[in-house]
Amino acid sequence: MSTIILAIESSCDDTSAAVLSDRSVLSNVVASQIVHSQYGGVVPEIASRAHDELIWWVVEEALRQAQVGKHELNALACTRGPGLLGSLLVGYIFSKALAYSLRIPLIDVHHMQAHVLAHFLGDPSPEFPFICLTVSGGHTQLVLIEDPLKMRVIGKSLDDAAGEAFDKGGKLMNLPYPAGPQIDRLAKHGKPIFQLAKPQISGLDFSFSGLKTSFLYFLRDSLKENPQFIEENLEDLCASLQFRIVDILLEKLILASSQTGIREIAIAGGVAANSALRQALTEESVRQNWKVYIPKTEYCTDNAAMIGVVGYYKFLKKIFADPEARP
Ligand code: KG4
Ligand code: ZN
Repeated sequence: MSTIILAIESSCDDTSAAVLSDRSVLSNVVASQIVHSQYGGVVPEIASRAHDELIWWVVEEALRQAQVGKHELNALACTRGPGLLGSLLVGYIFSKALAYSLRIPLIDVHHMQAHVLAHFLGDPSPEFPFICLTVSGGHTQLVLIEDPLKMRVIGKSLDDAAGEAFDKGGKLMNLPYPAGPQIDRLAKHGKPIFQLAKPQISGLDFSFSGLKTSFLYFLRDSLKENPQFIEENLEDLCASLQFRIVDILLEKLILASSQTGIREIAIAGGVAANSALRQALTEESVRQNWKVYIPKTEYCTDNAAMIGVVGYYKFLKKIFADPEARP
């Protein structure tokens, strides 16, 4: 018999609910809070309130689309962290109360583990062990995965995340938040003609703050000479910034693969939706003899389906949340 899980994600600015039957997605409803774009970033207080307004609707809609009644649920999986505390609290307390009223177990989910396990929403999925480059708005990590519930971070950003490098770089070019998807779109019409700084960090860790600073100074100097510099060169600027970010990410991925001897390579997280990263990875896979796994775009950015798949693996092992647990 299959396991029916309702999953809820509310760690940042997406309110999402999904219903899974084992690893199959029956529904995955995501309400993105566009309200933050006018502020140039996520405003935590506004995000919590928006989650509170949206959560009931996304849950009802996910159940309706899946054609599953609440009493058919076997468990409820919810993001416990990391994320914005006020945002997490809304989803977590809602889930606790619903699980309690339905007398079903609540399963805690680690948001970054969920990004990695998004690869197991259907097939083909990576073989163990594999390496996943997990790149989101808050994290940049190289993760070595030995089984669904056994993974270890082997490299991480020492400062900004890759998504932040996109978003903050975009802000300097006056693009609204989140700038990542727009840079991706604009870069398609530009060329990476501007040489931006590359950090020299040894080992498997990353750094993006130097790139942001060098981009800031480069724009400041260029604007002194030509006040229209950004408008006139927007597409090339986007292509140059994106080129450097992808270059930094791929270099570390190549190093991780050569150090571990692992050739099963995956990417995950919001930045994994980036078309240049996806293309560069596919090209590199031929040179490196890698087998690469790139999730569908809808499972890269924040969504509850990926929370549900972690819930499924934990359900099999009966790893349930402590009633005292908090985000
Ligand atoms: O995983 P995610 O949805 O949320 C977090 O857990 O942070 O990632 C959001 C990040 C943002 O920084 C956003 O700009 C970036 O992913 N992003 C992209 C693209 N789509 C989303 N960055 C570059 N290119 C994209 N196509
Ligand atoms: Zn995320």
